[in-house]
Amino acid sequence: MASSISGFSKLSKAEKIKWITQNHFDQPQEASTLLATYCHPDAARQEKHDEFIENTLSNFYLPLGVAPNFLINNKQYTLPMVIEESSVVAAAGKSAKYWANKGGFHTQILGTEKVGQVHFICPEDPKKVTDFFEHIKPKLLEGCAPMLERMEKRGGGLLSLQLIDKTAAMADYYQLHATFDTRDAMGANFINSVLERLAEILRQVANEYAKFSHIDKPIEVVMSILSNYVPNCIARAKVSCPINQLEEEEGLSATAFAKKMVQAVQIAQVEPYRAVTHNKGIMNGVDAVVLATGNDFRAIEAAVHAYAAKDGQYRSLSTAFIDGDQFVFQLDLPLALGTVGGLTQLHPLVQWNLELLGYPSAEELMQIIAVAGLAQNFAAVRSLVTSGIQKGHMKMHLLNILNQLGAKGTEKEAAIAYFKTHKVSHAAVQDFLAKA
Ligand code: MEV
Repeated sequence: MASSISGFSKLSKAEKIKWITQNHFDQPQEASTLLATYCHPDAARQEKHDEFIENTLSNFYLPLGVAPNFLINNKQYTLPMVIEESSVVAAAGKSAKYWANKGGFHTQILGTEKVGQVHFICPEDPKKVTDFFEHIKPKLLEGCAPMLERMEKRGGGLLSLQLIDKTAAMADYYQLHATFDTRDAMGANFINSVLERLAEILRQVANEYAKFSHIDKPIEVVMSILSNYVPNCIARAKVSCPINQLEEEEGLSATAFAKKMVQAVQIAQVEPYRAVTHNKGIMNGVDAVVLATGNDFRAIEAAVHAYAAKDGQYRSLSTAFIDGDQFVFQLDLPLALGTVGGLTQLHPLVQWNLELLGYPSAEELMQIIAVAGLAQNFAAVRSLVTSGIQKGHMKMHLLNILNQLGAKGTEKEAAIAYFKTHKVSHAAVQDFLAKA
């Protein structure tokens, strides 16, 4: 049974590893050697990674792959993807190729607005609180103006500041609801700093104002924080082509294929059990590029799923329809992303990935990532309505199974050749290796 420890964070890295391995592992030496093998040989580089978080012991590798041939708004891209799931990169590449000779992907930015809120309680008559807000609004704006200067120089800033009466939802609850444009920064630090300044001014002015006005009950600020829900920070990605340009698939005519694709997306629109998996497929593409570009995938996930439930039912994020002779497949995603600041500057591979993408602005990256989601969704639904998902998945999974079963060089090669024409399953690979 492991013992507890106080002051762990103050220990050196070597001391931490010693304590952890001696208290939690049967073979402490082996456990610490494994950690060491995953550390970067260049001490300075390792230190950089150590400092991203607290109590770093080693690195946790995920593969970085690339999916070439993405034609987006008539420009060629190769997408960097960080992901552990075996079929995702291959599926992205397949979709990219499929659409490259049908005009490629087209994208649009529908908004770039970020949101932050100061949540406060005031047990006053709502009319008085509204009057008070109108009176102090210039003071709030004036008070945070110096913090906005740099962002304003870059073309962003505070877009609006409103009082929202939430007393119908919770007694005495109000918000200062602020919207921002943070240009190429994700903007979390900027937004949170501005909100905390607004909260400070709100408290101060409320105290002064109470002396000579009708607000005599105190204002109690509960918290100030950005919202990761960004329904007005949207990128739209779209593919379309005449139905007769769609390839015939596994015995399905182009028209039958288009119809089945539309039905599959409609099912995900009306059926939450299917919608969750459908959207998970979209996020396979989205998260992989979000991670590769040093963005916060938890924030993106939270925003996207809230957006999928915006009308009260969780639904597909993508839509598919037939418009005259055209097949259209489209996706709107809320994406609060940054291409400057934070990890984007600190992680050398993030910089490499951004260079691979041609150093996109945040708006361009939003569009690229929406395309990654759409491409992934198209590949998944295409497989589902034709061959079924397991065929492609198990082919990609073959290497994982071979590695799990301890297959080596020539055995692996023979298995890969054999399973080009045979159905992959764990049992089938086991049988093959036993007979080899
Ligand atoms: C697997 O990671 C993702 C899929 O299940 C997505 C989908 O069902 O649409 C294939």
